[in-house]
Amino acid sequence: MSKLVVNGGIRLKGEISIDGSKNAILPILAATLLNAGTCVIKNCPQLKDVNIALKILSMVGCKVSFENGIIIVDSSTINSTEIPVDLAAEMRSSIIFLGPMLARCGKVLISFPGGCEIGPRPIDLHLKGLRSMGAKILDAYGGFLYCTAEQLKGYDIHLNYPSVGATENIMLASVFAEGETCIYNAAKEPEIVDLQHFLTAMGVEASGAGTGVITIKGKGVPKRLRDVEYSVIPDRIVAGTYMVASGITGGDVTIKNIIPDHLASVISALREAGCKIKVYGKQLHISGPKRAEAVDIVRTLPYPGFPTDMQAPLVALLATARGTSIVIETVFENRYKHVDELMKMGANITLEGRIAVIKGVEKLKGAFVYARDLRGAASLVLAGLAAEGQTVINDIKHLDRGYEKIEEKLSSLGASVRREV
Ligand code: EPZ
Repeated sequence: MSKLVVNGGIRLKGEISIDGSKNAILPILAATLLNAGTCVIKNCPQLKDVNIALKILSMVGCKVSFENGIIIVDSSTINSTEIPVDLAAEMRSSIIFLGPMLARCGKVLISFPGGCEIGPRPIDLHLKGLRSMGAKILDAYGGFLYCTAEQLKGYDIHLNYPSVGATENIMLASVFAEGETCIYNAAKEPEIVDLQHFLTAMGVEASGAGTGVITIKGKGVPKRLRDVEYSVIPDRIVAGTYMVASGITGGDVTIKNIIPDHLASVISALREAGCKIKVYGKQLHISGPKRAEAVDIVRTLPYPGFPTDMQAPLVALLATARGTSIVIETVFENRYKHVDELMKMGANITLEGRIAVIKGVEKLKGAFVYARDLRGAASLVLAGLAAEGQTVINDIKHLDRGYEKIEEKLSSLGASVRREV
């Protein structure tokens, strides 16, 4: 079980450039199934989840390559419509392959993704949307979904929650449908806008992403789309994580290659916590206070609200703040697994369902802790950077799903972090 060893108390200094967004790349990789040709996707970090998505594409017959941040997918031949169960189990967001596979091939066998570390992760909104377009989805034997669609038809779909994955799945399923699909109460995340840009570059008539109402004119039958070269947006959650790294250590860090609008709610929360943040075009400079200030209440919300993926990193910062903060996790049911581990470091946090009451302490102490999920793992690294003494974060396979070479990047800012396998 690989671990990270962090020696805390060092103020981070320097600059760091942000790579492409995991949560933009994954749906875009799924979208390459729609094009019986070749797509080139740039600005891609080496992440576990990206490599799993590429394995799924190659298992269904695509030719894929991934070198120097550039992914090439040749999906001219698809020779299987079964999403491998072991890969689907490793990455629950593999459900995103359902929509495009149904659109292109008319049938898919995929395992129920099931829950993960942060909650049950239902897919009822995905299935309801696809069924309303004419898909037949049977709960086949042993947790598999057997899905067929003679001809998907455009439909007006009202999501009762702005689900990111459901929005993406329906967008991808609608591309070869007969007629127009409108998705109401669609997710507005920047990654949805990036997916729409990718689709329109391939020649799909799509509009409205980011506004909550997305319209896609279906082509009626699977057609050859345009081959594209596309560069994905920077990862706003990785950027936010490194911002907290500067804030929690009283550091002085420049974060380059960002889209500041995507970070508006994070910038606002970190300013309230006492960080000085100056935005210059596609970069920002953040300096952390000697000690952070508590924030009144932060609720995680669908975009443009404060992102749930930044909840755990923010909790680490607030655990060291002057005063008491309240964080409310409104998006996922079980996303406080990092709290027990932070408490081992001396944090004073009380959980009441989705509410965390965080009484800041002067100093956290280094401890032997366990990562339980991706963003919780990041939270423990951040706490370790600020803590007195040494923190050992175990089971960092979670971290590698969403952060490329985090120990190298933090070390380049002066942190004392090493990986032990
Ligand atoms: C995406 O997950 C992201 N993952 C998550 O990032 C992110 O936290 C989440 O959106 C919210 O922003 C990827 O993009 C790969 P949802 P997704 O569908 O699509 C409920 C990370 O750390 N829901 O918007 O699964 C669901 O239970 C990951 O990078 C239903 O009830 O999120 C949850 O409570 C973690 N029925 C809420 O909606 C459904 O059919 C938000 O889920 C679908 C979702």
